[in-house]
Amino acid sequence: MRILFVCLGNICRSPTAEGVLRRHLQHAGLADRVEVASAGTGDWHVGQGPDERTCRAALARGYDLSRQRAQQVTPAHFADYDLVLAMDSSNLRDLQALRPGTAKGELDLFLRRYGARVDDVPDPYHGGADGFEQVLDLIEDACQALLVEIKGRL
Ligand code: 4NP
Repeated sequence: MRILFVCLGNICRSPTAEGVLRRHLQHAGLADRVEVASAGTGDWHVGQGPDERTCRAALARGYDLSRQRAQQVTPAHFADYDLVLAMDSSNLRDLQALRPGTAKGELDLFLRRYGARVDDVPDPYHGGADGFEQVLDLIEDACQALLVEIKGRL
């Protein structure tokens, strides 16, 4: 199974989701059965590591994002991934426009699919440190529910 998280810049929210899910999978002994990646709808940060504030907040909870590098999402990703999860409604709209009509991979809004009280992971890029903690809180909760779905599908 292959899962792709997508946000705008691929340096804050989707790299966090990638790191959180990867650790959940390791703890569940499923790391070799599920491939996880992330991408951005924009190309501004391609090749860069995640935002320093994102890395710091994630590392404080035990997630090392330092080896990740930003990439831009392309139509080909919809053939490569079974499940593409958008971090917010704007990302979802952009992905719907990009997704080939013949694509087999599923596309959905991450928080809505996994039962959160809000639909969007708020973009923390222009805000303060609290925003990065909120991103982690939302993503950690939704990843628990995603892991249940993964176990059911494997
Ligand atoms: P992300 O946050 O979509 O969670 O990675 C952002 C990062 C960079 C920019 C916007 C959002 N930017 O405009 O450069």
